Amino acid sequence: MTSSSDAPATPNAAAAAAPTIYVCITCKRAGDPDTEPRPGAILAAATAQAAAGTAVSVRPLRCLANCTRGPSAAMRCNGSWAYVFGGLDATCAAALVEGAQLLAGAADGILPWRGRPEPLKRGLIARVPPIDFAGVFEGADE
Ligand code: FES
Repeated sequence: MTSSSDAPATPNAAAAAAPTIYVCITCKRAGDPDTEPRPGAILAAATAQAAAGTAVSVRPLRCLANCTRGPSAAMRCNGSWAYVFGGLDATCAAALVEGAQLLAGAADGILPWRGRPEPLKRGLIARVPPIDFAGVFEGADE
């Protein structure tokens, strides 16, 4: 029997705590024709496949407002900073999953530079602090 302290506060609490990758399925590269499937949808499918059997959740969505620098994806997990990446393609799927796992294991909620897959170094667009962030973070992302 599970005690109440072991159970998630809400049915979605466990899912919210898991590392999650959001992949824009409507992304294409600048100048690409509007053909289907979009490169973003291909990236989303490849990322879901790469995440199979892991604790990483992959959620497709339409537009991360990084359209001119897509294909785009973002990641975060409970209490972490959120990261947005661009210039991705389907070959970056495993890197996204690896990065999400690194982020989930980071005690400070910051995606470590050391060990970060290369596509997540060169493709970083932005990082956003967690909702409860208070103070001044003075670290650079490298
Ligand atoms: S269409 Fe992908 S970020 Fe806007």
